[in-house]
Amino acid sequence: KTPDRHVPRDPRLIRLTGVHPFNVEAPLTDLFNEGFLTSPELFYVRNHGAVPEVKDEEIPDWEFTVEGLVENPLKLTLKELISDYEQTTCPITLVCAGNRRKEQNVVRKTKGFSWGAAGVSTALFTGVVMADLMKKAKPLRRARYVCMEGADKLPNGYYGTSVKLNWVMDPNRGMMLAHKMNGEMLRPDHGKPLRAVIPGQIGGRSVKWLKRLIITDKPSDNWYHIYDNRVLPTSVSPDEAANNPEWWMDERYAIYDLSTNSAIAYPAHEEQLCLVGAPAKYRVKGYAYGGGGRRVTRVEVSMDKGKTWRLSKIDYAEDRYREAGLQELFGGTLDMTWRESSFCWCFWSIDVPVSELKDAKDILVRAMDESMNLQPRDMYWSVLGMMNNPWYRIAINKEN
Ligand code: MTE
Repeated sequence: KTPDRHVPRDPRLIRLTGVHPFNVEAPLTDLFNEGFLTSPELFYVRNHGAVPEVKDEEIPDWEFTVEGLVENPLKLTLKELISDYEQTTCPITLVCAGNRRKEQNVVRKTKGFSWGAAGVSTALFTGVVMADLMKKAKPLRRARYVCMEGADKLPNGYYGTSVKLNWVMDPNRGMMLAHKMNGEMLRPDHGKPLRAVIPGQIGGRSVKWLKRLIITDKPSDNWYHIYDNRVLPTSVSPDEAANNPEWWMDERYAIYDLSTNSAIAYPAHEEQLCLVGAPAKYRVKGYAYGGGGRRVTRVEVSMDKGKTWRLSKIDYAEDRYREAGLQELFGGTLDMTWRESSFCWCFWSIDVPVSELKDAKDILVRAMDESMNLQPRDMYWSVLGMMNNPWYRIAINKEN
């Protein structure tokens, strides 16, 4: 018996924890084969507790507030938010900070469960730009942070976190409150009826089932802001972290912008490659993403353990959405003209000679972003196993 009986779910999703709470990723090849936009069925889910049940007829009256250090506190229903504010639609990739944690757990057990490389998904989100709400609420001069709180009641209170107010005000960071995903009402697992979408940052900042925005002069004091989504120094062991709260209190270790990352979808792990009589080239392909709105500028593949690297081709599907005129399909305006940033994953591919694959033991991939953040060779292990991004490796299994 689970508390989420009202939530429909796709059997293809792989459960990463027990029955409850629900934490899943799609098989990486299925996710990749869907292409740039992920269907709600295969979108990864990270829930800390039970999904709040909101009936369709209750959606228009869903209330949320903007309060704290503001001149003009707001209490709005979702219906008002939609009718009184300009709606915008934008493709955004969400990534769990735990994406690829499995590799950390193999090296040394972390306190988190084992995500493969499919803790990442992309959708067109429709909603209100958070900056527009702030302009209405008028933050006071000493305001610095926007705290967000969800409706899911957890063992340590409601789920909540914060971001900086000046990020919220920056149009190039694209932070929004969304009620639709790919043109449909949000599904229960993804925050129905309202969620924050914080592009370019770890998924943990995109609060689902959103009830309150609280403007403050300090970062959130919510339990989940402090004890989750942090990369503590690698020397801090699980025991030390458990017994010394001061490690957690240090806001320097909180993580926001995603780290540059990439993964190989083809060949898949355990895939048997038939290299006898095969075409002369094999297409290696996968995804890559940058953090903080920075674009991935190159993706490189090595078949000799990183001695030499080949440059792959990159498809930035995101750019096509700038011109696509999808307003009619998805509602609102597809307003990306005011954004200089890159908020989505890209797909890379490279044709490698089968003769070389035959001799290689593995394939490695690494990406670099526009600020030259290059994926490292070595892992940075930490107690929560977050932001794992060393070169991604696939062992080559040859069919006899
Ligand atoms: N918001 C609430 N209210 N409760 C949660 O458990 N999980 C966070 C974030 N927002 C969470 C939440 C985490 S850790 C991630 S990675 C994303 O939601 C996942 O969003 P998704 O399940 O829609 O993919």
